[in-house]
Order: sequence, then C-alpha cells, then structure tokens
Amino acid sequence: PRTVVVTGSGSGIGASVTALLREGGDRVIGVDLRGGEIDADLSTAPGRASAAAEAAEAAGGVVDAVVTCAGTSVPGTAMVTVNYFGTTGFLTVLRPALAAAERPRAVAIGSISGTRPADPDVVAACLADDEAAALRHAEAAVAEGRARQLYPSSKAALARWARRTALAEGWADTGIALNVVAPGIVLTPMSAGLFDDPEIKRVMDEAVPMPLNGYLRPEDVARAVLFLASDANSHITGQVLYVDGGAEATLRGPDI
Ligand code: NAI
Repeated sequence: PRTVVVTGSGSGIGASVTALLREGGDRVIGVDLRGGEIDADLSTAPGRASAAAEAAEAAGGVVDAVVTCAGTSVPGTAMVTVNYFGTTGFLTVLRPALAAAERPRAVAIGSISGTRPADPDVVAACLADDEAAALRHAEAAVAEGRARQLYPSSKAALARWARRTALAEGWADTGIALNVVAPGIVLTPMSAGLFDDPEIKRVMDEAVPMPLNGYLRPEDVARAVLFLASDANSHITGQVLYVDGGAEATLRGPDI
C-alpha cells in the first residue's frame, strides 16, 4: 500500500479523498486542526513545519503522495496563511520524503477563484515566500474593505507557485509530479452557508457558472485528485486542472 498524507482530512474534499484512498487500500495520515492522525494548525510556520515533520516520521521517511486540502474561506488573513503558506510550507518540508518514494505525487487544492481579480502585492509577497510581507498586505486589504480579494489572491498565488515549483530543482528531476486541482463550487461545510441567502447564491452562480452537471460533490473533486496522485499519472506536472463544470471555459472563453 502507498502512504499518503492528506491535510484538511476531517471535512469536505479532504475527508472524501481520505475515504476513497482508504477504500483503495492506501494508508492515509490525516492532518487537521483536530481529529486527524496529526492535529496541527497550518496557519503558523511552526505548526505546519512540525506537522510535516511528524507526518514524514510516521511514514518512515517515505511518503508516496501528499494531498493538501486544508483551506478557509473566512474573510481575513488566514486565507493567506492557511490556503497559501499552509500548503506551500507543508509541501516544501515534505519534499525530501516524497523524493524518497518510487513514484511520488503531490496535489494541492486551488480554486476557480484563482482566475478572479487578486491583490498583486499579496500574490507577489507569497511567491517571494515572504509571509510577513504577505500578512502586511493582507491586513491592509482587510482594513481597506478588500478582504474579498484575499481568497482569489491565495489561490492565484498557489497555482503560480505549483507551476514554478514543479520544475524547480528537487521536484520533477526526482520524479515528483506536482499539480493543482481547482474546483468550482463544491457542496461542503465551507460553501453550505452561502446557499441560505438567495442573493449570495445568485451572485455565486453568476461568478462561477457551471453548465456541466452543476455543483460538485466532494467525491467528484476527489476522483480527479486521486488520478493525479496515482501511479497512473506518469507525466502530468505543473498543471492546474479545473474540475468546475465548465466554469473556467465559460469565464475565460475559447481563445486561450
Ligand atoms: P471544509 O471547510 O469542508 O474543509 C477544510 C478543512 O481544512 C477542515 O477540515 C478544516 O478543519 C481544515 N483547516 C482549516 N484551517 C486549518 C488550519 N489552520 N490548520 C489545519 N487544518 C485547517 O472545506 P472544503 O470545501 O472541503 O475545502 C477544501 C479545499 O477546497 C480548500 O482549500 C478550499 O479553499 C478549496 N475549495 C473549496 C470550494 C468549495 O466550494 N467548497 C471551491 C474551490 C476550492
């Protein structure tokens, strides 16, 4: 069996990925705020570093795949510290344990919202791996009433980080495939509250049009994740795979 580390394993997409992997016979080391094999707060540098080190140790130094699903949509700086640094910092610490595996794979959950207008200062600070500067810019965005830009910023930065990192030293050259799955609207605890208010639902449906089969269930996303994290994915790396019912194709149009 393969050993897979999954963050955000306690809910939504992460819980579905965990369940499907276990059904398939893999060993999963789940990481979440509480209730996982490893309890950790990925919003802090020490939290994510010690969780990743603990996961590598529990796996005996060899991790076949990492799937990062932990994330938040609560408006505020946690969007940057969890969605971006909680993913990139965690994957970076686990890179050597991945490189020790025979066919290592990493998949991060991005979002269709990574295609929406972002705060360029937050994105630049993230990509420079300057968490203090990213936090300063994020706090400024909150103070100026632009908190809604932080979620797209975290996911845009994540997609760009994955594209660069996939080709950086120690990744493709050691056999690690690194990709992002970017979902449209998924029916999970994160999105649940949004549908209670018909006006918010209308705005969401306009922002994320999903002509193919409508809203996603967590397992619809998990199946795409499982493929990218599997041995069957021999050559796909540095990609953002939109699992979004046609939202990205609708929003960006045919002429890419
Ligand atoms: P969820 O809220 O059901 O699950 C998120 C998990 O992350 C929870 O178990 C939570 O405890 C964990 N988490 C949050 N902050 C954490 C922290 N500081 N440290 C450790 N764990 C933490 O949400 P869902 O919908 O399953 O989201 C998973 C990923 O998918 C997220 O990255 C989210 O941004 C992304 N996504 C979700 C969409 C949706 O419509 N639900 C759409 C597009 C992307």
